Amino acid sequence: KVVAVIMVGGPTTGTEFRSVSFNTPKPLFPLAGHPMVHHPISACKRIPNLVQVFLIGFYEEREFALYVSSISNELRVPVRYLKEDKPHGSAGALYYFRDLIMEDAPSHVFLLNCDVCCSFPLPDMLSTHRRYGGMGTLLVIKVSAESANSYGALVADPITNELLHYTEKPETFVSDLVNCGVYVFTPGIFGAIQDVSIQREDGANLRQVSCFEALQSATRTLPTDFVRLDQDILSPLAGKKQLYTYETMDFWEQIKSPGMHLKCSGLYLAQFRLTSPHLLTSGDGTKSATIVGDVYVHPSAKIHPTAKIGPDVSISANVRIAAGVRLLNCIIMDDVDIMENAVVMHAIVGWKSSLGKWSRAKGDFDAKLGITILGEAVTVEDEVVVTDSIVLSNKTLIVSVQDEIIL
Ligand code: GDD
Repeated sequence: KVVAVIMVGGPTTGTEFRSVSFNTPKPLFPLAGHPMVHHPISACKRIPNLVQVFLIGFYEEREFALYVSSISNELRVPVRYLKEDKPHGSAGALYYFRDLIMEDAPSHVFLLNCDVCCSFPLPDMLSTHRRYGGMGTLLVIKVSAESANSYGALVADPITNELLHYTEKPETFVSDLVNCGVYVFTPGIFGAIQDVSIQREDGANLRQVSCFEALQSATRTLPTDFVRLDQDILSPLAGKKQLYTYETMDFWEQIKSPGMHLKCSGLYLAQFRLTSPHLLTSGDGTKSATIVGDVYVHPSAKIHPTAKIGPDVSISANVRIAAGVRLLNCIIMDDVDIMENAVVMHAIVGWKSSLGKWSRAKGDFDAKLGITILGEAVTVEDEVVVTDSIVLSNKTLIVSVQDEIIL
């Protein structure tokens, strides 16, 4: 039996993304017409003998309740949300729920970061992991040398693929091979996490001998139950014949900034073309709009036949698109109204927003932000042009703006 755990994290404050107040946990933000977390969950469905998917995070339970029940029905695999009372770190969170995760006595546990976009080659990873015979196998990818330091950088044995060296977000260049945040472990991982907690506890007890030192270290040491998978587990276990790497040649991106949300929505649409083309809109038939490239349209959306849509567009439920509208590289969320001859490109349009006739919402790839974001229930009046700007929820724009954040 196999179980999968997806780390969904929790509410963060002050990030660029949160600031647009999309009133939804980041893992439920739509990419290619489906919540971000839907993509790793449906990849898990392809794992042989999968019995359960757990989402672990510190968002309120009610925020995930509806989604978890609908996805369980859709995939016919139980999906459960487990809420931490506080953040325990990526490995600590796994350990915190060890009894529930091990309830069905699985032989393997997949662990996936929710905020990565890739093809999730999970069945191949599992068979490779079995061949290696280690405690864990990490999905890795080669990235550009300039970007490598933003991730966990690692060195692997070119013949055996053993993880030899691991540094989380190194200050100087280590390697262009990086950790994708997708792992498969044997239950031995729980013992490894426990060891870190015990070492921490011992360290804390020792330090209490000297009062001064205890005070000093209090600011430096982490709580004993806070364990990071990368620094605390992968780094020390590298080179000990316990961890191995599986390199993907497919796409991989980390989804942190709003611009990456848009890019990853496009990557998932392109993947649908290969794996589930029925999810894409073909635009066949005389009464349908002109569709260019990869486009997802929710069945409840109403699109005028003279509109031109694509490539890389996803349109959610109950959206209305009027005559002559042009949409390109954008995410249009539920209940949005786009009126005659409006243009949306390189942009995210939040729930219940509306764009008036001949208006435009566009990002300019050469500009600083490169994307325009309209928050929830934003109204852009007729003929108003919004360029490279973030507009917070419930605003009405009556004049054009460029390179602005409208609070
Ligand atoms: N439930 C829970 N509890 N989830 C957490 C916690 C926690 O306390 N802390 C982090 N996470 C989740 C995040 O939401 C994210 O999905 C994942 O765990 C990893 O988050 P971080 O630990 O903040 O690391 P990161 O995203 O900066 O980098 C990690 O992922 C990269 C790949 O995307 C590292 O493992 C890098 O080495 C790796 O390249």
